[in-house]
Amino acid sequence: MPTLRNIELTAPYMHDGRFQTLEQVLDHYSAGGHGVENEDVNIRPFPLTEQDKQDLIAFMKTLTDTSFVNNPAFSDPFQ
Ligand code: HEM
Repeated sequence: MPTLRNIELTAPYMHDGRFQTLEQVLDHYSAGGHGVENEDVNIRPFPLTEQDKQDLIAFMKTLTDTSFVNNPAFSDPFQ
């Protein structure tokens, strides 16, 4: 799976940018994907409470590395 580092800052999500929010990504997982051809049979719906979702989003937000994103060494050289 792709890295979750700084995921809070990198919407839209998935390879085609189909989701605007992390909540939409989690709803997609919980719904068991979207039934594309060749989808693995182990990808199935599972319950996620509102609390579970908020906890997972809080976890993902701990992966935001502000010292990296605010480091002038990695800023736009043309600004
Ligand atoms: C708590 C568990 C998980 C969380 C919170 C999570 C979260 C996410 C998020 C936020 C993205 C979007 C990444 C982006 O757009 O940069 C993503 C994509 C993805 N995840 Fe997960 N994920 C979880 C579990 C898994 C597992 C178990 C697998 C594989 C078995 C997986 C495989 C993938 C793949 C292949 C993508 C890319 C899909 C695409 O680009 O269309 N994830 N995940």
